Amino acid sequence: PGTPLSSVFRNTNAMQHHTLEFLQALIRQYGDIVRIRFLPGTFYLINHPDGVKRILQENNRNYNKDAVDYRVLKEFLGRGLLTDDGPSWLEQRRLMQPIFHRQHLATFGKLMTEATLAMLQRWQDLAGQQQPVDIAAEMMRLTLRIAGKTLFSADLDVDARTIGQSFTKANQVITDYANAPFPPLFIPTPRNRRVLAAGTELVEVVTRLVKQRRQQSEEAGPPDLLSLLLQARNEETGAAMDDELVRDNVMTLLIAGHETTANALSWTWYLLSQHPDAEQRLCEELDTALNGRVPSIEDLANLPYTRMVIEEALRLYPPAWAFSRHALEDDELCGYHIPAGSDLFLSPYTTQRHPDFWERPDEFDPLRFSPERSAGRPHYAYFPFGGGPRLCIGRDFALMESRLVLATVLQQYRLRLVPGAHIEMAPLLTLRPRDGLPMTLHPVA
Ligand code: HEM
Repeated sequence: PGTPLSSVFRNTNAMQHHTLEFLQALIRQYGDIVRIRFLPGTFYLINHPDGVKRILQENNRNYNKDAVDYRVLKEFLGRGLLTDDGPSWLEQRRLMQPIFHRQHLATFGKLMTEATLAMLQRWQDLAGQQQPVDIAAEMMRLTLRIAGKTLFSADLDVDARTIGQSFTKANQVITDYANAPFPPLFIPTPRNRRVLAAGTELVEVVTRLVKQRRQQSEEAGPPDLLSLLLQARNEETGAAMDDELVRDNVMTLLIAGHETTANALSWTWYLLSQHPDAEQRLCEELDTALNGRVPSIEDLANLPYTRMVIEEALRLYPPAWAFSRHALEDDELCGYHIPAGSDLFLSPYTTQRHPDFWERPDEFDPLRFSPERSAGRPHYAYFPFGGGPRLCIGRDFALMESRLVLATVLQQYRLRLVPGAHIEMAPLLTLRPRDGLPMTLHPVA
């Protein structure tokens, strides 16, 4: 109470135009729990790992997703796993958890390296021309293709005329909207009409896919995520998901899965281009472990440095850089009273650069994730995949995908940032490079 209106406008403007700097300045000035007023309302920014742990784990039942960013996603993802809450969320989580079991992931590893090899094939022409390539766009296309293959066995490049084209375009329009959801959808601007039409189109395509698959006998279906969703049964009641819920979850896995992983990969390429020593160490590890072979999921256990590189990229540039919660009852976080009904922001971006928990926090230093140097660090100083019961269900999938893609590409190419290119962060729904990532491709001799 009592925040002058001018400050509310100033905060809203700073949050819109200098988001990351603004959040970090607030934390420097006011500490780890900050209460701030914007035009949409009052928010608490929770930066301390103890506060994050209480929200995501210890007292997680007190917090739901009836908060700002999730309201936008709900428009498209309905009551799928990411956006649902309460008992129906728990029921879905129980049904879907086994789908992401290691045994299923193993079959997806091959699809991931195949899609990467197809991209490298295409790169042959581009490398010959010495033309800069937008690696952010390449990673987006690659992870969308992997999503199409692993979700419903469709090749979104080859099947362009049947499902691929409308699907890819609708996905693009919706992702762009979710990244900058102003003005809200109920205001009928031309852009919002396009977004709603794209939403309808995507729902139609996915509904058709689900219906077609339902008609095939279960054994005949390919072993993709869609058939696993259709086969999932509640252990006690034997109940399955209805078509609408399967549809919402196909959309959810697609939207939650591909852009996040694409950004994780893009930032990794950027960091490696700035740190030739780390790149060299990574390539040496790959040479020793793989000896020129295409990597498989079994190889990943022998690639500890590769894993640390990805972990460090996810620390500095977490694709899900912030997410929100809504408090159902009063609570206390790090000694501060949080009233019922408050909206809260958790930001992996700010917490993962917290100087009390990270030495030289802005520096790229993958070895900080070695077991020796990780000892004693609070668990929730690092949460690129969230935590507690609502931990990202695709975490292992994403970590596997990013390591396989990285290893497969590095066996054939080194990527160099175009000289003079200035790469800026755009903290939209996900943290992206603002104007793409122009790089040149250099075949390994
Ligand atoms: C949840 C990040 C990849 C599917 C989450 C959350 C984060 C996250 C932070 C928790 C959100 C919250 O608590 O509010 C990421 C990042 C990824 C990634 C950084 C890539 C680097 C994936 C992939 C999939 C996926 C590949 C699917 C194949 C989901 C789903 C949830 C989720 C369904 C909701 C889980 C639940 O609430 O039970 N993700 N994710 N994610 N993610 Fe991911």
